[in-house]
Amino acid sequence: MRNIGKYQAAALVAGAVAIAGAAVAQPLGQGWLLGAPDDTTRFEILQRDAGGTGRTMLEMSIRYERMYEAVADGNLQLAARNWDGIDGSLSRGLVRRPDRTETADAFLYAVFDQVMEDFESEDIVRARAGFMTARDACMGCHVASDLAYINDQRLFRNLVFQ
Ligand code: HEC
Repeated sequence: MRNIGKYQAAALVAGAVAIAGAAVAQPLGQGWLLGAPDDTTRFEILQRDAGGTGRTMLEMSIRYERMYEAVADGNLQLAARNWDGIDGSLSRGLVRRPDRTETADAFLYAVFDQVMEDFESEDIVRARAGFMTARDACMGCHVASDLAYINDQRLFRNLVFQ
């Protein structure tokens, strides 16, 4: 077991208990994956590291905020790039959490092409409406997922086009 700090030791033991039912000794210098005892442990470490929907949403919300700023700046090419990035984050997230596919299709993917066309139109009025369509899709999925309280935050309250 390598020499680690008190908080890291607690986290490692807690993590290891969640991973393999026992603390995993990682020989110094072999790395966090190659130092693991076997492939099952390596996959469990990777699976845990990838995170779930919360991680996906954090990534998406950063791009969503940048997308708003891009539309506000009239930089619709950048808005389209962030919308494309939201698709990338969500589709990778669905590989990790396939049980979210149905709601993703019903909300975000139902309007994906339409919003992309709004940004690609180079028409600022259309692009603003496109952002609001995306916003409705985000918020609609939260409500459908019994997570309406997630919509009650500045990200959704403040970033709007009238
Ligand atoms: C497939 C349905 C779905 C769609 C579409 C969706 N969300 Fe989420 N969102 C969720 C779920 C489920 C959670 C709870 C995640 C968890 O398990 O922690 C969540 C959580 C969040 C959170 C809170 C994350 C945290 O841990 O604090 C934010 C912020 C968020 N979503 C933003 C967005 C934005 C922005 C969009 C649109 C670009 C969006 N979401 C679209 C389902 C969705």
